[in-house]
Amino acid sequence: MSGECEGTIVCTVRDLEATGSRGFRIGEGDWPRRGFVVAVPEGGVRAYENTCPHAGHPLDLQPHRFLTAERELIVCASHGALFAPDTGLCVAGPCVGRSLRPIEVTVTPDGEIALVDDTPNGDNARGD
Ligand code: FES
Repeated sequence: MSGECEGTIVCTVRDLEATGSRGFRIGEGDWPRRGFVVAVPEGGVRAYENTCPHAGHPLDLQPHRFLTAERELIVCASHGALFAPDTGLCVAGPCVGRSLRPIEVTVTPDGEIALVDDTPNGDNARGD
């Protein structure tokens, strides 16, 4: 999770301090690419598409709030599904066993978090 900055910068490590997560949107129009970055409790960061595998809703009800109060799990605000931050796997709720779609990111030495795949649909970032 470190290296040269090649793609769009979506946030910085410092941006994660307040809530442990940060949403981003890339592109304009009705269907921009929506994702979020989370700080993993064990260290490092992960990014996922902001689409719940249960019913396809965005996970956040309030901007940049993707984690439980303890910051241990990602939570979907719609129906309460809980996901492991390091894998995106749903561990409780209506979609247990399904996973968030990962987005590959890199962290620069300056703490900028950037997309590895900068294509509009993130075709190379999909984990399934
Ligand atoms: S849409 Fe996320 S739990 Fe239902």
